[in-house]
Amino acid sequence: MSGATPGTPPSRPTGGAAGVLEPVVDDHSICVIGPALLEAEARAVLPEGAFEYIAGGAGDGWTLRGNLDRLASYAILARRMTGTARPNPSTTMLGRLVPAPIYVAPMGAQDFAHLDAEVGSAAGAARAGIPFVLSSASNRSIEEVAAAGRDAPRMFGIYLNEDDKVNRALVHRAVRANYEALVLTVDSLGPGVSERYLQLGSPVSRVAGYGNFDPARGGVGQFRNLRHGFANDDVAKLKEWSDLPVFVKGIVRPDDAERVIAKGADGVIVSNHGGRTLDGLPAAIDLLEPIAATVRGRVPVWFDGGIRRGQDVIRALALGADAVGVGRPVLYALALGGATGVSDFLEWLKRDFTTQMAQSGVFDVGSIDRGLVRLVLQDGALER
Ligand code: FNR
Repeated sequence: MSGATPGTPPSRPTGGAAGVLEPVVDDHSICVIGPALLEAEARAVLPEGAFEYIAGGAGDGWTLRGNLDRLASYAILARRMTGTARPNPSTTMLGRLVPAPIYVAPMGAQDFAHLDAEVGSAAGAARAGIPFVLSSASNRSIEEVAAAGRDAPRMFGIYLNEDDKVNRALVHRAVRANYEALVLTVDSLGPGVSERYLQLGSPVSRVAGYGNFDPARGGVGQFRNLRHGFANDDVAKLKEWSDLPVFVKGIVRPDDAERVIAKGADGVIVSNHGGRTLDGLPAAIDLLEPIAATVRGRVPVWFDGGIRRGQDVIRALALGADAVGVGRPVLYALALGGATGVSDFLEWLKRDFTTQMAQSGVFDVGSIDRGLVRLVLQDGALER
């Protein structure tokens, strides 16, 4: 099984109805066998409302389901007799050598999973050497998360406020805390929770609030007054406030990729927000290839949405991604084992990616090319 090692207590009481999160903070090793078991075990220990907050998607869940289904429709045509080298999963991100082209996607309000919230997931990612993106909608502060992640690569994902003074202050704090890039999320323009979650209600008291906006902790007010839209000069503003590279997250069209690069973006993140925003957006993997073709290597193209296993990393790299973000499974691991659970899951994902590279006959990340995957067409035939 995956999840809590036999004999260790679950990190959360079994929920029943919406349940209430109890102040249990634990941190222990989990045994990860695969993503479906990990999700099932997280579901068993989390209150239903907390699980639904993490797992759910917007509307009818069409985009959410599409992310997983369409990824699985790219078959891998393994190459044989390609040599005897050991697969090397490492690559560079933001000019740093990293153990695999994998990072933790920005996710807000992680206290739904575990009371250590982003401090737990950042510490777990750091132990596995995996870059971490902190959402500005986090429960823990920019500074606490930086301390937990020590010298591991970290980025700051910002939701823009209507007041640029708030935005500038957040960026300056991220710079001071040695975040290495900014991720500007441009696709979340309304509530991003499922209808089932709204029905269940939140199991989390918001007394603790959002770490970056609490004035008592050096914040600048409440997490509200979020922007309802973005303008062409937003990238330029972020670049004016810091020297950090700016990645724009939530790009679903080649023409928008072109536009943000023209406005100075240092990277593009192809993402439909894990199916949590506009239900009706295409599956994320179907957006990747045309955008990567437009970008033509001018800036890195990162991708998220449905990455669960090593094969998914291969599929996304073959279709043009330079690195992939993982969302929900990280929170399931956090729920089950805190920081140690997160590092156990990310170690498993790195191992699985390495194993599937060998199974596919590729021995370095650069050899994962478009020829390695074929779309399975509706009649079951492979694309030519
Ligand atoms: C998110 N996501 C997200 N994205 C973002 O830019 N800022 C944020 O604060 C959040 N918050 C958030 C919370 C939760 C609970 C989830 C599950 C997701 C979206 C996230 O970065 C990413 O795009 C998707 O989660 C990727 O899809 P998978 O890996 O979850 O399928």
